[in-house]
Amino acid sequence: MINQNSKIYVAGHKGLVGSSIVRNLKKKGYKNILVADKSKLDLTDQGKVLKFLKKNKPHFIFIAAAKVGGIYSNNKYKAEFIYSNLTIQNNIIHAAYLSKIKDLIFLGSSCVYPKFCKQPIKEKYLLSGELEKTNEPYAIAKIAGIKMCESYNLQYKTNYKCLMPTNTFGPNDNYDELNSHFFPSLIRKIHKIKRNKKKELILWGNGLAKREVIYVDDIADACIYFMNKKFKETIINIGTGEDFSIKDYARIILKMIIPNKKILIKYDKSKPNGTPRKVLNISLAKKYGWKAKVNLKDAIRMTYNDFLSKNNK
Ligand SMILES: NC(=O)c1ccc[n+]([C@@H]2O[C@H](COP(=O)([O-])OP(=O)(O)OC[C@H]3O[C@@H](n4cnc5c(N)ncnc54)[C@H](OP(=O)(O)O)[C@@H]3O)[C@@H](O)[C@H]2O)c1
Repeated sequence: MINQNSKIYVAGHKGLVGSSIVRNLKKKGYKNILVADKSKLDLTDQGKVLKFLKKNKPHFIFIAAAKVGGIYSNNKYKAEFIYSNLTIQNNIIHAAYLSKIKDLIFLGSSCVYPKFCKQPIKEKYLLSGELEKTNEPYAIAKIAGIKMCESYNLQYKTNYKCLMPTNTFGPNDNYDELNSHFFPSLIRKIHKIKRNKKKELILWGNGLAKREVIYVDDIADACIYFMNKKFKETIINIGTGEDFSIKDYARIILKMIIPNKKILIKYDKSKPNGTPRKVLNISLAKKYGWKAKVNLKDAIRMTYNDFLSKNNK
């Protein structure tokens, strides 16, 4: 159980999820938070990671450092996705074990589940079918991370927990049109339409693929909640349990950002749709007493304000 004196290391503290975990920990009154910039601690450097953890001996670790991106970058930079993710997680998990750190949270992703998975996706469907090709290297790395935590728990009696968040968005997201996830990229695209007074929005694919999204502060809340919770399962899904089509999300965001204008939605069908539907079964998280709290429209409003504060040009 984390207490006020616990030393807590957040790896990836500048990223979308890591920065939210740090904000959330501070809000809860935890002061002993350990972070290290990538320029000082490159987590792909095994020796440095081991030295850092042995020297600092945190009691708890949140692994929110990873190479992350949307369908375009996952597909284009397959080698970087598999190498960086395997290396970062191997380094931290193994060094945590060598440094006698018993508690950590590893973040996987809903991409670990098969492309044509039964919906809503239960944790037990892991490894029950073929993965989506565009992000297979990323998913394989994440599955290896899950199995690593599971194996260390079995052999070394550690308490390494794995959470599987659905598509996450919020302040500090990567809003790049090409390299980001669909949700922040949609926010940027729609903002550009507003700024340039355009009348058309072009979506990748046919717009019918269904996705579940969650606000990042809910993910951070889940990370801290489950760090403090005893459970026997290897993985727990973290989502809202609700999904909408990409087209529906586009309409919701258009209505919020450009309220009084009619914008025509067009589809670039030369671009992939990705997995047809992806919604998590969240019964297990609920059974342990956790559920998402932030309403979708409030989450979009907070995210758009963050986007404007960084990109108002
Ligand atoms: N975003 C989502 O929709 C989503 C959904 C499901 C699961 N997740 C999982 O949640 C975790 C966090 O994702 P995120 O969206 O917060 O990603 P993010 O915003 O890209 O943040 C990743 C962080 O990792 C750091 N990092 C990357 N390589 C590093 C290295 N070699 N050494 C040190 N630091 C390094 C980055 O530092 P720099 O910024 O300095 O490069 C960044 O701060 C990941 O495990 C991801 O798989 C995310």
